[in-house]
Amino acid sequence: MLRAVARKLSVSSTTSVCRGISKIIRHYCQKTPAKLRISEAVSGAETGASVRVQGWVRSVRAQKTNLFLHVNDGSSLQSLQIIASSELTDPLLTFGSAVEVTGTLKKSPHQKQAVELEADQIRVVGKCNPAEFPFKIKERHSLEYIRQFPHLRCRTNAFSSLLRIRSEATTAIHSYFKENGFVQIHTPIITSNDCEGAGELFQIEPSSPETEENENFFSVPAFLTVSGQLHLEVMSGAFSRVYTFGPTFRAENSQSRRHLAEFYMVEAEVSFTQSLEDLTKVMEDMFRFATEHVLAHCVEDVDLFHKHVTPGHRDTVDSMLKKRFPVITYTEAIDILNRTSQKFSFPTHWGCDLQTEHEKYLVKHCGNIPVFVTDYPYDLKPFYARDNKDHPEHTAAAVDLLVPGVGELCGGSLREERLDLLRARLEEAGLEDTYSWYLDLRRFGSVPHGGFGLGFERYLQCILGVDNIKDVTPFPRFSRSCLL
Ligand code: 4AD
Ligand code: MG
Repeated sequence: MLRAVARKLSVSSTTSVCRGISKIIRHYCQKTPAKLRISEAVSGAETGASVRVQGWVRSVRAQKTNLFLHVNDGSSLQSLQIIASSELTDPLLTFGSAVEVTGTLKKSPHQKQAVELEADQIRVVGKCNPAEFPFKIKERHSLEYIRQFPHLRCRTNAFSSLLRIRSEATTAIHSYFKENGFVQIHTPIITSNDCEGAGELFQIEPSSPETEENENFFSVPAFLTVSGQLHLEVMSGAFSRVYTFGPTFRAENSQSRRHLAEFYMVEAEVSFTQSLEDLTKVMEDMFRFATEHVLAHCVEDVDLFHKHVTPGHRDTVDSMLKKRFPVITYTEAIDILNRTSQKFSFPTHWGCDLQTEHEKYLVKHCGNIPVFVTDYPYDLKPFYARDNKDHPEHTAAAVDLLVPGVGELCGGSLREERLDLLRARLEEAGLEDTYSWYLDLRRFGSVPHGGFGLGFERYLQCILGVDNIKDVTPFPRFSRSCLL
């Protein structure tokens, strides 16, 4: 084939063709230097190299002889400083525009260890009219302000940091479970059960039903999942440690700072448990592992929050990690709440549900670190919670983890593994037919087991100090709002 090419090019030998091709490759390589992510460029490892970077302009400054740009590509918080001759100035080079820059990476003469790119060529890939762009150059916009622009807020420093932290925290949680022998289960998003029994369900039907009127698409009413717990419990009959981490839905008519209609939940289920301690250990270890991982791998992004968005929060995080999380019973919690002179909107008495105001008070009372509250009134908990068979105060082996600034972060329990007790409770609620499969789990090799769920957005609020849950999720969904 090379001979044919040689003939076509009218050169005498195949060697000449090879030489020609390598010349073309060399020429091409010189023309298009290697593409580098900006996080790699600023690391300094490629100083002296000819490179090509692509990103969005974060600042532009034109001087008499030079043009200075800062370009960011989302690979880290840092932008790369570009220096170019003012001949490369282009009116389209504005704040927010997308560019491709080629040039040579150099050590900055001004700042120690900093790297800058001396540009040979700047190409505007995408224009941006700064007068119409809702974010202004060098202005620090509040999280509340940028929330109005869900399609654009990823272009701000704060929200891009949040998204990198969210991604890294996800990795950390998967790593924790992998390192501790848990098997990940993809629990379904569409389900026919109401795990929590609280009725906060979104029902699913096709938008243009093809089936007979009043007939469900799935033949039974189907919903978006409120928890993967019951499906994890199925798996607990074969795996001693399982987890799931996915979207979860609650039709809560709430505009609160800690509720979403769609959120991510991390859920784990452990078989052969002996006590609630088997669960609190996993919750605490996972919290520590993920938080230490995020602090170590997202230093600049976390600093942006702890220094500029929620100043002082780093101390709270450090103290959370220093001490073991205390454990108090629900009964002790009610005693603490009844003794305080602080006035609550919801008065407390044994048997009442703990409200956010109570949870926050308990956290403060325990030294502003996470605290476990165990053994809740039996009547407050769903059918699956294990009966403690105590009296006169009848409790279930349930546990919540309450954390600074947020209140409830995790909810979990030992599950009722005793067939007779579970059947009696389901019968009382008229649910024995619906949950006959769940009773089967207790008939065939039932073991003591338990699990918990952690609200991933609340976790991010807790470690970053962010007040509103809508600021830690890319596209918040809540009652009367589903933008994009
Ligand atoms: O306490 P919850 O309702 O527990 C369950 O769903 C159990 N079935 C979990 C299990 O044992 N596998 O929810 C668990 C956590 C809460 O502690 C809270 O952090 C979070 O999920 N959560 C929400 N987060 C944001 N928006 C909402 N509407 C939430 N509802 C619960
Ligand atoms: Mg709960």
